[in-house]
Amino acid sequence: MTHNLNHIGLDKKASSELADKLNELLANYQIFYMNARGFHWNIKGDKFFELHLKFEELYNDSLIKIDEIAERILTLGFTPMHTYADYLELSKIKSAKNVSNGTDAIQEILKNYEVLLPLERELLEMAGDSNDEGTGALMSDYIREQEKLVWMYSAFLNN
Ligand SMILES: [Fe+2]
Repeated sequence: MTHNLNHIGLDKKASSELADKLNELLANYQIFYMNARGFHWNIKGDKFFELHLKFEELYNDSLIKIDEIAERILTLGFTPMHTYADYLELSKIKSAKNVSNGTDAIQEILKNYEVLLPLERELLEMAGDSNDEGTGALMSDYIREQEKLVWMYSAFLNN
């Protein structure tokens, strides 16, 4: 193993850049998670039972992804960010506060995916350039799942 490769045989510099970008995704995902949790709690109206449940699915799925992203950063040999202060500083996704209307919540989620999806596509491209199949495969899964969710949330809004 040459000196410019890390312990899993990937280029150290490329892995470092990927880890930084993964930390950016992690920060955004943490805010996204708390947004979904807030929607789950505060939602009101005739779609309460449906959306309360949907948002629970969403935050549970987000928790799994948050852990996967953090552990991928560790697998690459770096440290995942783990403080709210760092997340808030790095996240492009903004905290959604006091949203109780279903349409507003879903519009907010769609807006958040406009941040997450491009970040994941950027990561997929970077991973491809450096032969990092592990990170690339993870991003492919996220992109496919989230594109489908964008379709479904848009359909809910009649868009
Ligand atoms: Fe709950």
